[in-house]
Amino acid sequence: MATTKDYRLGDFTFPRGWFMIAESCELDTHKPLAVRFFGKDFALYRGRATGKVVLLDAYCPHMKTHLAAPNTTSYVILDGMGTNVEGDGIRCPYHAWRFGPDGKCDDIPYHQGPIPAAACVKSWSVVESLGAVWVWHDPEGGEPEWDHPSIPQWNDPAWVHPKWDHLGVLNQHPQEVVDNICDYGHLSPIHGSTVARFENEFKGHQAIQRQCGGHRTLVSADGVSADLHTITTYHGPACLMSELTGMYEGVMLITHTPIDDGSVKVWHALVVKSPSGAQVATKTDAIEAAHFQQMALTAFVQDMDVWNHKAPCLNGLFIPSDGAFMKARIWYKQFYNPRANKSEYQEQCEGVYVPRGIPAYTQDPKAA
Ligand code: FES
Ligand SMILES: [Fe+2]
Repeated sequence: MATTKDYRLGDFTFPRGWFMIAESCELDTHKPLAVRFFGKDFALYRGRATGKVVLLDAYCPHMKTHLAAPNTTSYVILDGMGTNVEGDGIRCPYHAWRFGPDGKCDDIPYHQGPIPAAACVKSWSVVESLGAVWVWHDPEGGEPEWDHPSIPQWNDPAWVHPKWDHLGVLNQHPQEVVDNICDYGHLSPIHGSTVARFENEFKGHQAIQRQCGGHRTLVSADGVSADLHTITTYHGPACLMSELTGMYEGVMLITHTPIDDGSVKVWHALVVKSPSGAQVATKTDAIEAAHFQQMALTAFVQDMDVWNHKAPCLNGLFIPSDGAFMKARIWYKQFYNPRANKSEYQEQCEGVYVPRGIPAYTQDPKAA
C-alpha cells in the first residue's frame, strides 16, 4: 500500500473535495453508523426530530467513548430501543452525556451546574444528494469550491433511480483509480471496447474523457451491443459521472473516499432513462435498468479486479500511445495542495490530449 507521499502529490495527505460517506437509506433506522474516512473516526446518523443527517467526530470528550460504535448492552441503547440517537442529538453510551447536532453537549444527566464549554465534538456539514450523503473535506477548512454532486435526471420520473452498489474497501491509493480517466490502452483488454475515437480534457477542477466505440461488456439482456458514447467527467478528485448514450441513455456514477492514506471505500450506481420512453418509468423499465446497472457494475469490477492486486504505480512506463497519464496526475495534484496554488497545476495540464494513433473524439486536439 502506497501513500500520498509516495505518489508525491503534495502538502496534504487527503484531498480537498466532495466525498460520499454513505448511501442515504443506510441511516433510515436512526441507528448511528461508525464510519472512518480521512484517517478519522466519525459518528453518522439521521436525526429523529428533523430527519437531518448529522456527522460528528466520533469520540466523546468526556472519556473518549465512540459515540456510534455497535453497542447492544448499554442502557442508553436498550432504553432507546436499539439506538442512542435522541431528537437530532446523540447520547454517549458510557455516562449518557448528550450532544446536539451542532456537536455541543446539552445534557449531563447526573450533573448540576453549567456544562463546560469544552464538552463538544466537531460537527461537519453534510448534504444529501443522489441518494447519498456527501461531505466537503478541505485540509484548509475552506468553503466548498464547487457545488456538491447532483444531476437533474435524479429528480426526473422518466429516469430510473438506482440503488448504490457498495464495492467495499480497495487497499490502493485513489491515484490508481483516478488514472482510469485517461487509460485508453485498457479499454479493449479489460472492457472489450473497440474504441473508435478518444480524448481527454483537463479544465479547472474537472478531468474529462470522451470516447466512443463498440463494447463487449455493456450489452442488452439479449446480448446486443450498440456503439457506446461516453462523456465521463471527474468533478473534483473523487466523484465521476459518465453520460452514456447508445443502447440506453444513462449516467454512471463512481465515487471513492479515502479511509486511511492508501485505502478507499468505493461505490457505483447507474441512473437510466426509461428504456420504453415512458414519462414515468414503469416496473419493466426498472427491471431493464437494473440489468443495465448490473452490466455497468460488471464493467467496473473488471477494473477493480486489477486494482485489488496490483502494485502501486509510482513510476509508470508510459508510452505516447497511452492516454495522458502524466497530465491527469498533475491535474489531481491541485486537490492535495493549498487552494492558493491550484492554478499552478491547472496551467500545466489544461487542454485536450489524444493518444498517438487514434482520432480525437472532437476537433482541435493537441498531441499529449
Ligand atoms: S465517555 Fe462519553 S459520557 Fe463519559
Ligand atoms: Fe476502466
